[in-house]
Amino acid sequence: MQKVYTKVTDSLNYFQNVDPTKLAEEYGTPLYVYNEKILRQRCRDLKGLVKYPKFVVDYSAKANSNLAFLEIVKSEGLEVDAMSPGEIYLERMAGFEPKEIFYICNNVSKEEMQYAIDAGVIASVDSLSQLEQYGELNKGGEVAIRFNPGVGAGHHEKVITAGKKTKFGVDPEFIPQVKEILAKYNLKLIGINQHIGSLFMEGEAFVKSIDSLLNIAKQFDDLQFIDMGGGFGIPYKKEEGQAALDLEDLGKHIDEALLKFAEEYGKQVTFRIEPGRYISAECSTILGTVHTVKNNHDKKFVGCDIGFNVLQRPIMYDSYHGIEVFRKSEVESKKTETVTVVGNICESGDILAKDRVLPEIFEGDTLCVLDAGAYGHVMSSNYNSRLRPAEVLIRENGDVVLIRERDTLEDISRHQISLKK
Ligand code: LLP
Repeated sequence: MQKVYTKVTDSLNYFQNVDPTKLAEEYGTPLYVYNEKILRQRCRDLKGLVKYPKFVVDYSAKANSNLAFLEIVKSEGLEVDAMSPGEIYLERMAGFEPKEIFYICNNVSKEEMQYAIDAGVIASVDSLSQLEQYGELNKGGEVAIRFNPGVGAGHHEKVITAGKKTKFGVDPEFIPQVKEILAKYNLKLIGINQHIGSLFMEGEAFVKSIDSLLNIAKQFDDLQFIDMGGGFGIPYKKEEGQAALDLEDLGKHIDEALLKFAEEYGKQVTFRIEPGRYISAECSTILGTVHTVKNNHDKKFVGCDIGFNVLQRPIMYDSYHGIEVFRKSEVESKKTETVTVVGNICESGDILAKDRVLPEIFEGDTLCVLDAGAYGHVMSSNYNSRLRPAEVLIRENGDVVLIRERDTLEDISRHQISLKK
């Protein structure tokens, strides 16, 4: 196997002693490959974020809810959040206790709230009307509320989830009405939460939002926890030397805010964060196979099997993912060139990387898309009736195990009902 362009995976020892071209051959491509060591390390990084003693990291399972993945997160002592009954279900399967799950509702049905209540999972509601509905279902129960601190941040307007332009959270102006509804149903508000958006590389907006959240917290007497949200970014442009988030500096600022709050509040509430991407992104790559290299007018296209049904982020948010190249044959790349890497979906927007400078690529090469573990497989689809990829895990000892099978043709027809009886 030739390492044609493998700077980042080499520096991380990502594949350990495993040959990615063999993985591609054995399991077929496209293939999601996870590295257990990196996943565990990311869990530990965040557990050590602050010195404040009552601190819990809730992994945000929406980023990656693979069962084996959740089992590893659980074994690292993290808790989880959930965005749907489906996530609660998977998390319970992975071994999380109901009290280790935090259900964050957004425009959910009464049936979905009831599912959480029956499962013994605490729910956070994010509007006055949902608080009413919850009160009707669970009189005298415990509840949490998501507030909108008025500060947002994120890598794309589609993922900024606080501030004046988003659907999320309760406007703090409505605190008097919140108190009325709590009293009407004898609900106990045990937690408040926020999430300002996804992917910040500077902690400033996050720290500022904590201040707003803590001001809201002071208006409620009996809180057991305050959840500051997720959004911790990762450097997607590693090959260009982009630095990682400075967790030490961020941790210091957060600690200052928490300790000050604990003094003023008169007791130590539990503080939580709910990161998804930081924990899951960097421990996964996608392997794909180049099936066509062609020139179309002035452009050179590298056509592979990683369409946007496999990884939606580039088409959805113009996201950048590093691409590396492995090769089974002896053929040598003699130059670098600017190419556009595309998938096999029948849409011209099916672009994985536009005008990317890479060593000359040949048909049969194995491409490796970096940082694909967050919002990768969970956002994959069967569009064009393609099969969603398998997932394998490189264990700490170097063994490779299959953690999800590739879809089959049967899977894509399973729930369809023919008119021909
Ligand atoms: N908590 C709540 C309430 C959220 O809405 C989210 C993500 C998170 C936690 C986790 O955020 P993270 O730490 O992963 O940034 N599909 C997009 C990201 C959407 C995230 C939306 N909310 C992407 O691929 O960039």
